[in-house]
Amino acid sequence: MQVMVTGGAGFIGSNLVDRLLAEGHSVAVVDDLSSGSLANLADARASSSHALAFHQLDVRSDELVEVIGRRRPEVVFHLAAQADVRVSVERPVFDADVNILGTLRVLEGARAAGTARVVFAASGGTLYGESDPAELPLKESHPHRPLSPYGVSKMAAIDYLVAYRELHALEFCALALANVYGPRQDPHGEAGVVAIFADRLLRGEPVTIFGDGEQTRDFVYVDDVVDAFVRAATRGGGLVLNIGTGLEVSVSDLARVMGERAGATVAPAHAPARPGELRRNVLDPERAGIHLGWQAWTTLGDGVGAVLDHTRRRPAT
Ligand SMILES: NC(=O)c1ccc[n+]([C@@H]2O[C@H](COP(=O)([O-])OP(=O)(O)OC[C@H]3O[C@@H](n4cnc5c(N)ncnc54)[C@H](O)[C@@H]3O)[C@@H](O)[C@H]2O)c1
Repeated sequence: MQVMVTGGAGFIGSNLVDRLLAEGHSVAVVDDLSSGSLANLADARASSSHALAFHQLDVRSDELVEVIGRRRPEVVFHLAAQADVRVSVERPVFDADVNILGTLRVLEGARAAGTARVVFAASGGTLYGESDPAELPLKESHPHRPLSPYGVSKMAAIDYLVAYRELHALEFCALALANVYGPRQDPHGEAGVVAIFADRLLRGEPVTIFGDGEQTRDFVYVDDVVDAFVRAATRGGGLVLNIGTGLEVSVSDLARVMGERAGATVAPAHAPARPGELRRNVLDPERAGIHLGWQAWTTLGDGVGAVLDHTRRRPAT
């Protein structure tokens, strides 16, 4: 297949590109390198298939529609985004520009190019907002109540996908991702708690736990997420599907599991709770199991082990 990956130089996107190339697809990456990097595509560029094309391009630019038209991808995986919740609070107009208008440009390009399907990286961590503990794990039928501009812009993109399907028969599948972690995640970013912990543990420094550490997340390993994207290229049409483990893990438990794996001897440090942080979040992946035949295979222990190995091999920054 001819496919396009927007945001393909980022954490999840580059892992997806590696998998698509390994499966023999021709992959065109569109990325403006604002948070991603060409280093993430080093393996893909070294791949013997020569089936990778890279376009350094902002998804908001007029040129995007022309590039999609020239490439004529059968499937567009749309991952390029302003993906930082705090930036979205500081700069909501910028967030909407990239995440809403950028998505519209991708959809316009896909429509003009006769693309069959768009697979979209939605955010299960922000789509549903704060919920009643009795409602956990959250199903896709839960009301959409995002509490940040980022959550709103990602939700709006889903609404456009629905409209384009109705208006132009452009098929879509939106994956509502839980907290994705794995190799290549930016340890300096605000969302990558696993990457941040790995970095500190391997430096022999204490990890910092904000608040009481009992806030929970659903940590899903990047290879499992990539597997869901690949499946969604041909299945799950017209659906929003949760991509998570269904397992609720507290930040304190994460610190303990990672500390044990790293052989750390330093106790975690504690800092005041961060305002606006969700208390609990965990997604019910049953629907993805039914429609994609997908489930998260990787245990937390194996996944964080892989991140620690990757961090050990990475040059110090
Ligand atoms: N990591 C998670 O836990 C998580 C959870 C839910 C949803 N998501 C979504 O998954 C996608 C990938 O996230 P990630 O964690 O790999 O983040 P990332 O920042 O590593 O990847 C985003 C990529 O998009 C590129 N990009 C940003 N703005 C662009 C623009 N205007 N034009 C072209 N390219 C642009 C960046 O350079 C980067 O390579 C995002 O859409 C994000 O919202 C991620």
